[in-house]
Amino acid sequence: MTPDGVDDPNHAMWLGRWDEGRIGFHEPLVNGWLTHCADDLVHADGGVVLIPLCGKTVDIPWLIARDVSVVGVELAKRAVEDLHAENRIEAAVTTEGAQQVWRSPGLTIYQGDFFALDPSVVGPCDAVWDRAAMIALPPEQRGAYVEHVMRFLRPGARVLLVALVYDESKMDGPPYAVPTAEVESGFSRHARVVKIGTRDVTTGNPRFVRSGLDEVHEVAFLITARE
Ligand SMILES: C[S@@+](CC[C@H](N)C(=O)[O-])C[C@H]1O[C@@H](n2cnc3c(N)ncnc32)[C@H](O)[C@@H]1O
Repeated sequence: MTPDGVDDPNHAMWLGRWDEGRIGFHEPLVNGWLTHCADDLVHADGGVVLIPLCGKTVDIPWLIARDVSVVGVELAKRAVEDLHAENRIEAAVTTEGAQQVWRSPGLTIYQGDFFALDPSVVGPCDAVWDRAAMIALPPEQRGAYVEHVMRFLRPGARVLLVALVYDESKMDGPPYAVPTAEVESGFSRHARVVKIGTRDVTTGNPRFVRSGLDEVHEVAFLITARE
């Protein structure tokens, strides 16, 4: 797989979206689940938070400002360039295996396929923040995603994950519907899974409304890797 991943149809779709500016998933404000749960996710004295499929989320500078070291993984070079330019972050860029690595104080971004990133290269992480990562992946990749995420975590580490629940007969993903049972059964092999809340987002996305969805909920989980 090349860093651009154009030989994979899903990768080509994401790269096309970034090239054409179809990034409706990007939020201008720091995510509310993250601000609400940050103290449960990482200790006040810092730690390393992995953000798989990170896009150019504004959650990254927010976490760095809290003295957390962030490791992001993102396929699209355009997203990584925008992230650095929009936050005036200067990075040293190197090519390491299949990844381009952007390093700056408190932040390392691996630009390439998350599934091709070797956890031993990153080292043990204290937490994972998953907003719109698992729900960006088709069903056939999500089991492998859970297994791969867990390989990055030290024992006792936490995952804050936001899933999405809606009637899949009315809309095709991404974002995909990821039922509570799928999160619980996937992660509970390695971790304790606690559902921490739900939020009605039915009117929050014009596509949900156009697709005739009358109920869309975010469901947030705090997942703790077994010691
Ligand atoms: C729905 S967006 C979410 C981005 C970010 N988490 C946020 O909250 O804004 C999913 C992102 O994952 C990236 N992506 C998709 N498949 C990937 C893969 N296999 N490895 C790394 N990044 C991937 C896409 O380019 C896209 O930026």
